[in-house]
Amino acid sequence: MRILAIESSCDDTAAAVLDGTELRSSIVASQDDVHHRFGGVVPELASRSHIRAIVPVVRRALEAAGTTLEGLDAVAATSGPGLVGSLLVGLSAAKAIAMARALPFIGINHHEGHLLSILLERQVEFPYLALLVSGGDTSLYLARGLGDYELLGATRDDAAGEAFDKAAKILGLGYPGGRVIDRLSTEGDPTAVRFPRARLKQRPKTRRFDFSFSGLKTALWQFSEEGGVGDIGLANIAASYQEAIVDMLLENTFAAADHVGCTRIVIAGGVSANSRLRNRAAETARQVGVDTFVPSLRFCTDNAAMIALAARERFARGESSPLSLNADAALEL
Ligand code: KG4
Repeated sequence: MRILAIESSCDDTAAAVLDGTELRSSIVASQDDVHHRFGGVVPELASRSHIRAIVPVVRRALEAAGTTLEGLDAVAATSGPGLVGSLLVGLSAAKAIAMARALPFIGINHHEGHLLSILLERQVEFPYLALLVSGGDTSLYLARGLGDYELLGATRDDAAGEAFDKAAKILGLGYPGGRVIDRLSTEGDPTAVRFPRARLKQRPKTRRFDFSFSGLKTALWQFSEEGGVGDIGLANIAASYQEAIVDMLLENTFAAADHVGCTRIVIAGGVSANSRLRNRAAETARQVGVDTFVPSLRFCTDNAAMIALAARERFARGESSPLSLNADAALEL
């Protein structure tokens, strides 16, 4: 089955062609230049940029895959969660193609795409514990199989990616912040400043391992207001701040894995591109004797290949969506 998938939930316009198990193309048009000067995604500008990019991106994905609309067997698109204006662009394009070519169509949950993204490159057996960590979400799921995901924890306030992006804004480092802080941190000392770690009470009885990043962000803001940055240097601040985020993410993830007795941990979403998180996760996994799996960098951040993969699995189960399917900004997994 040759599937064209489209992803446009936030600020990347992406299209991919998956042919059975072979990924034939995966194109991502970033809007970083559009949002850079605002220090974050501006929803109205994001939708307009998607409208401009969607046709060229789909065309490039088809060309790179050596196919045309006539060569497709099915079409998929992210239907939520995300920015509604952004979602509507990709979803409408996919539905229009499905209608014009009389092809089966399916809407995919963006989070499911991330949760399954590792399967584009590795065979990971279910069940696995998945840390989904991106600009819009920080959650822990026990993935037992396709569509069988138990939520074990979520952020009570900001997502980890948001904590990176806001810190970069406070420190005047530009957008998107995660990548800049990651790069700068390689030259800094992660123990230079002891930023607070929110340790919410883990509640194993109710299987809840929640996160909180707003206190850390406020601590950085206060620190910079009090002039602390000048003395210590940006690289040391960035490395210390990043270390606090990584500590909080890994502490809960490994505690949850231990609690549910899961020996496979998958880390996915934009923040899983973070080099410190990847290295420390691998190191901790070695120490406690579990396996960790993290996608290659191009499948960590938003992409349509993961949407195509989720679509393939759902089509294989005989599922599809009606062309009346609407975008849902708060779609739950
Ligand atoms: O999954 P994603 O591409 O988009 C959505 O959230 O929908 O994630 C984007 C987030 C941004 O907050 C960005 O700052 C963060 O991922 N990010 C990183 C890194 N690369 C991207 N955070 C930390 N380290 C990185 N290397």
